[in-house]
Amino acid sequence: MQTERRFSLKTGLKAFILLVVLPGCGLWFARPAPAEGQGQIRQWAPNAPATTAQYIGGDACAQCHQSKARAHAASAMAHALAAPSECRILQTNPQLSFQNGAWKYTITREGTRSIYTITDGKSSFSEPILWCFGVGHSGQTYVIRHDGIYYETRVSFFTTTQALDFTPGAPRNVPTALNEAIGQRLSTPETMACFNCHGTVAPGAARFALEKFTPGIGCETCHGPGEKHVTTMRANKDGQVADKAIFNPRVMHPDDLSQQFCGACHRSWETVMQMPERGGGLSNVRFQPYRIANSRCYKDPDDRRISCSACHDAHEDPKREAKFYDAKCLACHQTQNSVSPKDRLAPACPTGKTQCVTCHMPKTEPPGLHFKFTDHHIRVVKPGEAYPK
Ligand code: HEC
Ligand code: HEC
Ligand code: HEC
Ligand code: HEC
Ligand code: HEC
Ligand code: HEC
Ligand code: HEC
Repeated sequence: MQTERRFSLKTGLKAFILLVVLPGCGLWFARPAPAEGQGQIRQWAPNAPATTAQYIGGDACAQCHQSKARAHAASAMAHALAAPSECRILQTNPQLSFQNGAWKYTITREGTRSIYTITDGKSSFSEPILWCFGVGHSGQTYVIRHDGIYYETRVSFFTTTQALDFTPGAPRNVPTALNEAIGQRLSTPETMACFNCHGTVAPGAARFALEKFTPGIGCETCHGPGEKHVTTMRANKDGQVADKAIFNPRVMHPDDLSQQFCGACHRSWETVMQMPERGGGLSNVRFQPYRIANSRCYKDPDDRRISCSACHDAHEDPKREAKFYDAKCLACHQTQNSVSPKDRLAPACPTGKTQCVTCHMPKTEPPGLHFKFTDHHIRVVKPGEAYPK
């Protein structure tokens, strides 16, 4: 079984360290900082504390990496977090409302601000929205601060319905008190985790801080602090230098890239195995590194042809045309009636059809999410089968 095989000694040891040795420290601080200096940098954590190089901001990268910068600027990851003044959904929806029993929720535009208000006619609550989480491919959730405490709003905007509804995971009962109606109170580590997955260390800062950061996933979230690289490359304009002093994820083992690197935010197999009910049934379809690791195609985790980078360019949104992915599948799978190269050992599809992902990576809608995610557990989907956990 895939499950048992992957839950190896290495995994068990890491789980022990994470769950037993470092309780409450939070995954984010537990990860080692990149080992910088000579040779290739292999260790990685998102927004790792700066050690020998400073964070300088993505604008500097755009000077030399124009096409990457242009592609990235248009991607969802670059807009994973925005101030309300920059938030397109709130700009184009100046008045949003939602009713839960006697409680009325409204989000109202006032100039460049948006105000989150809750009232049951007797008591009421009002705070400006501090941050918009998510560009809104599936939806957008808001974070506010009240009496110095951060809250995730109880209602979110959903793109398919163009309306507010309960935030995924939020209770759906009618609250008995105002403080219950606001939303999920976030502990300091939870708040840090949200911003660390959706934001970037501010230029000049040594580590991620809630008082100062850059919204959205920037170049340096993934590549680490870039100051030393920029100095090095300015001095070596031809690019001919052994140590470019920046982390290139390409040097990672494919399984580490998928599970540790992308999985640090998209949730690795290990992380999901430790969640209650493995992330809550159908809802774990959002966790691609977990889903793909359960697939028989992931038989050899270190096969580059099944890593995230095989199908996605991290600098842009995924290709939407199903036929784009055929070549990715056929890098391993044989085709009927063809003599395949020796490295394509996986069997051919008996149907002989193309656009493989339409049948084998079904679009799946978890309850309450109003969005169909792509199931990365690649498989033969049997009619009426239960969702494989
Ligand atoms: C002065 C020009 C310059 C600037 C500014 C610059 N780079 Fe580079 N970078 C280069 C050159 C030249 C290369 C080598 C050729 C290539 O891979 O594109 C390179 C290579 C890289 C690589 C691959 C390294 C490797 O070992 O293969 C990464 C990753 C990278 N840059 C990221 C960044 C990031 C992130 C920033 C902003 C913090 C940045 N660069 C700013 C010129 C620059
Ligand atoms: C620092 C955290 C972080 C890392 C690391 C990260 N992602 Fe993401 N990714 C996100 C967040 C947050 C979003 C949601 C952005 C949004 O829709 O607002 C996202 C969205 C995406 C999307 C969806 C874009 C769309 O059109 O909806 C893809 C594809 C993706 N990431 C692929 C990757 C791959 C591949 C890697 C590894 C090479 C990776 N990500 C690493 C945080 C991360
Ligand atoms: C471990 C990293 C991580 C943390 C912590 C995290 N997110 Fe995300 N978030 C992601 C990734 C990855 C995605 C893209 C995949 C998906 O839609 O689930 C995402 C997507 C989203 C989306 C949907 C974006 C879209 O364009 O549809 C919203 C909304 C969101 N996150 C809000 C939040 C809020 C609010 C918090 C904190 C309370 C939070 N996230 C904490 C990684 C994270
Ligand atoms: C979500 C993570 C992520 C973000 C954000 C990101 N990169 Fe990358 N970058 C990667 C990965 C993964 C690779 C390795 C791609 C591969 O294996 O083919 C890479 C490779 C590179 C390379 C090396 C060229 C190559 O093809 O090997 C350069 C240069 C680079 N990135 C520049 C940038 C710049 C500039 C930005 C910001 C505009 C940026 N990256 C933002 C993940 C990211
Ligand atoms: C064999 C190809 C393949 C591999 C490998 C792959 N993906 Fe995808 N991914 C897809 C396809 C197909 C889509 C759907 C594109 C579309 O129709 O919009 C997708 C969509 C996504 C999305 C957008 C949200 C959604 O559910 O549609 C995210 C995020 C994502 N992939 C992340 C990842 C991460 C992280 C990895 C590595 C663990 C990964 N993918 C590996 C094929 C792949
Ligand atoms: C890294 C190579 C690789 C890639 C890329 C790959 N597969 Fe596979 N796939 C395999 C292997 C190996 C098996 C298992 C064969 C076995 O067990 O005999 C498999 C099994 C399957 C199965 C049968 C699974 C089951 O549960 O019965 C399907 C269906 C499948 N792959 C479809 C796809 C599709 C569609 C794609 C592209 C989206 C894809 N594969 C990409 C290697 C790969
Ligand atoms: C129209 C839906 C559809 C499309 C498109 C499709 N398949 Fe399939 N595939 C199936 C069905 C149904 C089965 C199960 C057939 C059976 O068991 O008789 C299957 C079986 C498979 C198997 C298992 C074979 C075995 O011997 O265990 C693999 C591998 C596979 N498909 C790969 C692919 C690849 C690669 C593509 C794209 C080139 C693809 N499929 C396109 C529906 C599809």
